[in-house]
Amino acid sequence: MPLVHMRDMLQHAHTHRYAVGAFDLVDLAFLEGILEGAERAAAPLILSVAESHFRHFDPELALAACVAAARRSPLPVAIHLDHGESLESVRRGIAWGCNGVMLDASALPFADNVARTREAVALAHSCGVPVEGELGYVAGVEGEDAELHPGELRYTEPDEAERFVAATGVDFLAVSIGTVHGRLRGTPRLDLDRLAVIDRTLKIPLVIHGGTGLEPDQYRALAQRGVSKINYFTALADAAAATVRAAARADSTAGWLALHREVRAAIAQETERACRLFGAAGRASEVLASCRRWREVEHVVLYQPRAGLGEGELATMAEEGRRRLSQVPGVRRVFHGRRVAGRDDYAYGWVIRFASEAVIATYRDHPTHLAFADGMFRPNAPHRLSLDLEEW
Ligand code: 13P
Repeated sequence: MPLVHMRDMLQHAHTHRYAVGAFDLVDLAFLEGILEGAERAAAPLILSVAESHFRHFDPELALAACVAAARRSPLPVAIHLDHGESLESVRRGIAWGCNGVMLDASALPFADNVARTREAVALAHSCGVPVEGELGYVAGVEGEDAELHPGELRYTEPDEAERFVAATGVDFLAVSIGTVHGRLRGTPRLDLDRLAVIDRTLKIPLVIHGGTGLEPDQYRALAQRGVSKINYFTALADAAAATVRAAARADSTAGWLALHREVRAAIAQETERACRLFGAAGRASEVLASCRRWREVEHVVLYQPRAGLGEGELATMAEEGRRRLSQVPGVRRVFHGRRVAGRDDYAYGWVIRFASEAVIATYRDHPTHLAFADGMFRPNAPHRLSLDLEEW
């Protein structure tokens, strides 16, 4: 199960001066194509879902597919929420399978960006999940996504970046040094001196948004100056769209499947190319060796209901628990069940999936859990056995 800690992965990239591709996926063909391309390059990989795309697909379903894909992949993989818009998005992203999140408050004034990002860091860190913040603003010019990033580019100021990282505790910082979301117009001009100063000042993995369309030398120059993660979408979308247009031109009566036949291969090719440009190709095994595996925890509580507790009251309690406990940060699934056969002591139980070991303490002390446990569950379940199982 090479789902790995994103902090370890990006630390490796930062030390060795290459960048991991964070590829935004929008459907299953993207997911499979991205995996295929990264596998061909033997590159560490970040599967990324951008909140701005959630009107095109159901993120809960997409992330379930990402988790399944990461688990069976031979590559070290992390799963990231890109451009998270709110604290609730961050909580849900983690609940659905992300082990890295971005809170993007970069369009807000400095103090508001700090305040919003700080809240996201507190929540995500309580689940063991690292956070990317953004300072400065990466605007959109043209292409599929450009209109989602309106306004003018604003460069990241190194001294502000230093204060931002200290005040928020972010693990990675997305910087604005001349890239744009979507397609570029003309030759891209990057402020590499500014990037070098930010790198020397912060000494944490830096992130570039708007990864499409740079020159090969520019990708190398970014990685040499501390960029450890490059977000990449438009080139994948353009490659996919070109195959669909070609199929439609070749046969104007082509059906859905025929139109889409080459999409996956085109995505794979573009992903492989990007991994090589970023310097990530061939790094998979050394990254695997240096990263902690990401392990979920199952919190198991078996119990005996108090004498006289009726079926109806039990069912109400189970329903309340499912509803309330699933809101605690880091909780991925709440299962309540009854023993199928055999002994009838400890005949009921909860199996609650935590995103990571860090959630054990977060959950134990969280007011939502305490209110349910003390107000409803424990008075009705005087005899309890509980344990936490880590995948092993
Ligand atoms: P491009 O679409 O320019 O590759 O940028 C992707 C991105 O930055 C997503 O966050």
